[in-house]
Amino acid sequence: MGRPFQDHPMLITGASSGIGRALALELARQGASLVLAGRDEPRLQEVERAAVAVGGFVRTLRCDLAVPGAAEAMVAAAVETFGGRLGALVNNAGFGVTAEFGVLPQPDLERLFAVNVLAVVAATRKALPALRAARGLVVNVGSVVGRRGLPTIGAYCMTKAAIGSFSEALRAEEARHGVHVLQVEPGLTATRFAENRVIHGDHPRHYPSAFTFTAEMAAARIVRAMARRRDRVVLGLPGRLMVLANGLAPWLVNRLLARR
Ligand SMILES: NC(=O)c1ccc[n+]([C@@H]2O[C@H](COP(=O)([O-])OP(=O)(O)OC[C@H]3O[C@@H](n4cnc5c(N)ncnc54)[C@H](OP(=O)(O)O)[C@@H]3O)[C@@H](O)[C@H]2O)c1
Repeated sequence: MGRPFQDHPMLITGASSGIGRALALELARQGASLVLAGRDEPRLQEVERAAVAVGGFVRTLRCDLAVPGAAEAMVAAAVETFGGRLGALVNNAGFGVTAEFGVLPQPDLERLFAVNVLAVVAATRKALPALRAARGLVVNVGSVVGRRGLPTIGAYCMTKAAIGSFSEALRAEEARHGVHVLQVEPGLTATRFAENRVIHGDHPRHYPSAFTFTAEMAAARIVRAMARRRDRVVLGLPGRLMVLANGLAPWLVNRLLARR
């Protein structure tokens, strides 16, 4: 593959860590111009230095997507940085909550939806005029668990299911404007996601280390899917198997999960 994103202006949310960080470095290698958003400034600056070392133009933007209006302000600042252009919006920022519904505090549920869903929709709405002008891309990072609700992370699954529906509807709406929507569905990936989770109840902080899909592997697959303007990419064998098993025998998956 050449450098399909040479000089393409892109905004990546959650670029300070994990999949967003790896994606920033991969797109920088492809020559993209990047605005990288997140809350953690030192981490963002580290990613900026690494991306500049392999690519070209990089700016960082401090932004807490849980704050109402922050997503729109982030997009406005990025579009201004690029002189009114935007080739891609990568809605990657997100976090998890582990808690059975019986003990899930309502404020945690609301914050989960604010960051994982409402900010994604708000950022995309604000970005659409610039994306239409560029016949650009929206990349929404959902999850394989958006296709199958799992115990103890049901609220997180709900947010990722919402992202899946958003991507499908938006893709159909925006096709006539030349904007394409890629839905990314990672399975377990080795990032800071597990340690950043909010946990209520007696649940392990870390995931089993047997799952070795890395953020770099995810980024390479996502960039290839972006270049090919694919509709959806599911990342990692365990996640793909879960989606397959649930499609073929949801009753069996229900039984197994109820017995855990
Ligand atoms: N890792 C997995 O197993 C996995 C599986 C399926 C889907 N995903 C999804 O992949 C995406 C990336 O996660 P990751 O695995 O790379 O986890 P990560 O290493 O924890 O990265 C999450 C990113 O989201 C940002 N973020 C979180 N809350 C934010 C807020 N309120 N405002 C702005 N930015 C915020 C963080 O930036 P700051 O801390 O700097 O704000 C960080 O850059 C998420 O949407 C996640 O749901 C992950």
